[in-house]
Amino acid sequence: MNRTPHVAVVGATGAVGIEMLQTLERRNFPVGKLTLLASARSAGKKLPFRGAEHTVAELKEDSFAGIDIALFSAGGGTSKQFAPIAAKAGCVVIDNSSAFRMDPDAPLVVPEINPDDALKHNGIIANPNCTTIVTLMALYPLHRAFNVRRVFVSSYQAVSGSGAKGIEELKRQSGQIARGEEVTRETYPHQIAFNVIPQVDVFLENGYTKEEMKMENEGRKIMHHPTFKASVTCVRVPVYRAHSVAVTAEFEQPVTVAGAREVLARAPGLDVVDEPAKSVYPLPLVQANVDNCAVGRIRKDCALDNGLCFWVSGDQVLKGAALNAVQIAELLVK
Ligand code: A2P
Repeated sequence: MNRTPHVAVVGATGAVGIEMLQTLERRNFPVGKLTLLASARSAGKKLPFRGAEHTVAELKEDSFAGIDIALFSAGGGTSKQFAPIAAKAGCVVIDNSSAFRMDPDAPLVVPEINPDDALKHNGIIANPNCTTIVTLMALYPLHRAFNVRRVFVSSYQAVSGSGAKGIEELKRQSGQIARGEEVTRETYPHQIAFNVIPQVDVFLENGYTKEEMKMENEGRKIMHHPTFKASVTCVRVPVYRAHSVAVTAEFEQPVTVAGAREVLARAPGLDVVDEPAKSVYPLPLVQANVDNCAVGRIRKDCALDNGLCFWVSGDQVLKGAALNAVQIAELLVK
């Protein structure tokens, strides 16, 4: 890989795309040349990078000549259509959509967990689901120490997980309610302001949503743990940014709170924020725009033998998407 690669951001005008650009700049990623791509609607638009304005071009089949790394965040359909074209043109795609996550040819990577997988790519590397990443940042170190068997998880997912339109919906509805106006709805199946919605993504035949099953499917692949089980309820909450998860994990080996804390304190990319007597625990408001995820409310589960409960919050636009993608790119140029 070129040490100063030509980098393309596909979906550069989106919530995650903009964050990818800022993350490349903030982490001093050695971008040799930058290409910004989005739909025809955004062609000609300018975005700042390292003090200069860069013009967005329309994504086309011939957009990838000479590009070394393409960070895709323009939806599954765009990835399905254009990622293979980009890979064929010789570029390594780091794809934020779900299109290739379960493809046996595409590694699914969290750099703190399975960095070696990134180097076994065939042109496309997948970035995992945001809720899965936030959960695994705390679960994986515990798995290494105590061998996880299964988890029961409830998520509290921010509206920015739905892109710019989710943020707009919460903002608009909050304003409408404050002004005593009728609430209008465009993005979610129900009002999200002053409400919670126990549906993220579409329902499957087993009664879970597609989002909920990602934890087990992607978790197995990332942790190289083919029998890992996860029963998940994903909930959309009126939070702008940062997802949270309440996790109950059952382990093969006996686990203590002290042992778990010791493991979590050493885990990369994770802060232990856990002083319940002082009402100190991770909060999405605090974790927004922060690279590390945070874990707290660590306690022995009172209903399982080798069980542990904990709460994780993490910025899903950063660690759940843009930061994780840039960290994968860093593995490629290392
Ligand atoms: P555009 O802004 O031109 O629509 P978000 O998830 O925040 O809504 O962002 C989605 C990103 O994906 C945007 O940058 C959007 O570009 C881009 N995008 C959506 N559909 C396409 C497409 N068919 N071709 C290229 N880019 C697309």
